Amino acid sequence: MSFPVITIDGPSGAGKGTLCLKLAQALNYHLLDSGALYRIVGLKAFEAGLLADQELTAVDEDNIAKLTAQLDIQFLPRDSGEVDIVVDGTSVAGEIRNETVGGYASRVAVLPKVRSALLELQQNMANNSGLIADGRDMGTVVFPNADAKVYLTASAEARADRRVEQLKQAGQSADYEAILSSIKQRDERDENRSVAPSKPAEDALLLDSSQLDAEEVYRTIKKFCQTKG
Ligand code: C5P
Repeated sequence: MSFPVITIDGPSGAGKGTLCLKLAQALNYHLLDSGALYRIVGLKAFEAGLLADQELTAVDEDNIAKLTAQLDIQFLPRDSGEVDIVVDGTSVAGEIRNETVGGYASRVAVLPKVRSALLELQQNMANNSGLIADGRDMGTVVFPNADAKVYLTASAEARADRRVEQLKQAGQSADYEAILSSIKQRDERDENRSVAPSKPAEDALLLDSSQLDAEEVYRTIKKFCQTKG
């Protein structure tokens, strides 16, 4: 038996996280946060000394792919409906959501052997229930036969504004220019890499959320998914 798969791709900060969580809860589907997988690999590679601080230093693809294949990664639903991410028995949810780890993630994400080490894990998540798959290449590479595909984007400036607001709400300081520059650098790397670049699938619905709030995005996408279901 096959279960329905809805893919939501697009750059960081376009609103995919909130949207995917809400859709998964409304439809009672599992949620695949594929960005978390690359963040985990980036963090673990850095901690293992396989990813130097220096951007331009050549990375050790074979050993990072080996480390990736050895990780025991589990997505565990919490009572709140959110999903805890446990790696080798320890929750990493609080450690991976920052710009530094986002940068590590996008550096390991260019490595073909790392991407293929994560492929089966991602595809297996559709074996037991309907799935909302959040990422960059969900509709193009991981689930090319998905039932509904969305590419959610927003201008880099709108995404930087949202990030500043989130940090302020969390009581943290925020440097708009530094955040904007980091977002642009990550977009550039994600969109121009040779394997699985971030781009809309040919059959995806394209939605620009720059001028929309989270509720408008949710309603639009939910309606679109219903037309497909
Ligand atoms: O979505 P998130 O910001 O958590 O993703 C972190 C990084 O992981 C992205 O910038 C991208 O480089 C990489 N990624 C990817 N493919 C995915 C999901 C994320 O290459 N499907």
